[in-house]
Amino acid sequence: MRLVLATRNRKKATEIVRVLGDAQVEVLTLDAFPDCPEVEEDGETFEDNARKKALTVAAHTGLPALADDSGLEVMALAGEPGVRSARYAGEGADDAANLQLLMDRLGENSHRAARFVCVLVWADGAGGSRSFFGTVSGEITHHAKGNNGFGYDPVFQPTGFDRTFAEMTADEKDRLSHRGEALRAFAAWYKNMTPGQ
Ligand code: IMP
Repeated sequence: MRLVLATRNRKKATEIVRVLGDAQVEVLTLDAFPDCPEVEEDGETFEDNARKKALTVAAHTGLPALADDSGLEVMALAGEPGVRSARYAGEGADDAANLQLLMDRLGENSHRAARFVCVLVWADGAGGSRSFFGTVSGEITHHAKGNNGFGYDPVFQPTGFDRTFAEMTADEKDRLSHRGEALRAFAAWYKNMTPGQ
């Protein structure tokens, strides 16, 4: 089966292609559709935003689309940065600025519990959609560690590990991550829906 990934975030797309590649899904990126409209992520929830992205891209391309909306929720910050993870330090802020603001806000707070959340929405091109969820719990380290991954990976240490996501290999992160969990749920559902493909 073919689907279009409704994201322009290359690091996210790499993770998605990596996991779905194993599931025999042919993934096209938005690079193949340069005229596809940008979607404003103004939803209240990850699912609202992911659905909006998936429906827009499916309507534009005429192909099934898969969108990811994801982010980091820090308990001591009442769930921030949450749906605003990509623009925590302002519109157009980069990963380094967002991460620095998080560390400034959390300071030396000893309560450092956090989780990553991922919602994937698949849209079938005829107005139908379906959602898949993944989460991973952990804590925010006091200092950034590691060079792999993206976003908040250098300060997120999953529960039961003494390394951050940025210190893990791609395979290790995929096995543990919110996105890996949601993608495996999607792939299992899709395989049942299209037996023999
Ligand atoms: P959006 O889903 O495009 O709105 O942005 C998600 C944002 O959440 C990213 O830009 C990162 O800041 C953060 N994020 C989501 N998933 C991950 C991850 O796997 N590692 C690190 N940061 C992530």
